[in-house]
Amino acid sequence: MIRSVVHGCGAYLPQRVVTNDELARKVDTSDEWIRQRTGIRQRHIAAEGEFTSHLALKASERALAHAGLKASDLDLIVLATATPDETFPATATRVQSALGMTNGAAFDIQAVCAGFVYGISIADSMLKNGLASTALVIGAETFSRILDWTDRATCVLFGDGAGAVVLKAEEGKGLPADRGVLANALHSDGRQHDILYVDGGPSSTRTTGLLRMEGKEVFKHAVVNMTAVVAEVLEKTGLGPGDLDWLVPHQANKRIIDGTGRKLGLSSDQVVVTVDKHANTSAASIPLALDTAVKDGRIKKGNLVLLEGIGGGLAWGASLIRW
Ligand code: UT7
Repeated sequence: MIRSVVHGCGAYLPQRVVTNDELARKVDTSDEWIRQRTGIRQRHIAAEGEFTSHLALKASERALAHAGLKASDLDLIVLATATPDETFPATATRVQSALGMTNGAAFDIQAVCAGFVYGISIADSMLKNGLASTALVIGAETFSRILDWTDRATCVLFGDGAGAVVLKAEEGKGLPADRGVLANALHSDGRQHDILYVDGGPSSTRTTGLLRMEGKEVFKHAVVNMTAVVAEVLEKTGLGPGDLDWLVPHQANKRIIDGTGRKLGLSSDQVVVTVDKHANTSAASIPLALDTAVKDGRIKKGNLVLLEGIGGGLAWGASLIRW
């Protein structure tokens, strides 16, 4: 049985750090409110002329170096983003040409904050079906470009960044002890459009639009759906929460992250948290958190790692990986 085995990861954050106090000078908010309600202390913001593809490229180069591979070894790039450089072509093709990769295919997917988990699932399916052998899965965003900087209820929550992992198709025994992606679960519910969306687009308004969110409503769905999808993905493998080494959740709000960890019976030091430093970077948040915990030595080969995320759509999902 083919397994999609992780060979490396990488991440990149724009240089500029914006603190809560800096935002409090622009909108009616405070460091205390932001920290208490979300756990966020700061976020990175892309420079003028620095695009999603630039962040994605740097994260990808680092992931390839970590994997000990070259761009010519790749035959698939799946880039999850809701903030592409252009309406078309796919930002993934920008990364493809900048890396110098000429084999196979590169395309974008759009599942907002669940994008990275969707990307892992799609790449895993393609590797298992023989459509590719070595894949780069990227989550990259410049949400600063679609924020309404006069809306304190949303502009304090998000940041820019990128993360990537390299997956290689390898023969496994089909056991939970195998390294690689063990199971995925994906869901969406289009009825929830109005609680998190961007009020523009090429076909509707011919503008890019700005992010609109009813935070409290999204919060309620996040807690319920995360608990359900985590149980679903574990059930697929016969493993239980007690087998988990690490939870690497989408980084939207420390309170949601803590709630999910508690429900799984995990201790707080098994839950990777980067929302304090990165804020919510949408599709980039999970690979940014993964890279942090791999590079600081927490996540090790053979560890059981659970990824989960939810965002606009609503769209949500989870992936279980033996690192
Ligand atoms: O990544 C996609 C998934 N997104 C999420 O998971 C986000 C989920 N939602 C959340 O994380 C939280 O709902 C928020 C952090 C967005 C908001 O926290 P909350 O505890 O739900 O606060 P709230 O929206 O109910 O607002 C409470 C109060 C309101 O004032 P009143 O009506 O009680 O007087 C808001 O106007 O806080 C006010 N408020 C602020 N005050 C200071 C809202 N934003 C701010 C702000 N600074 N930035």
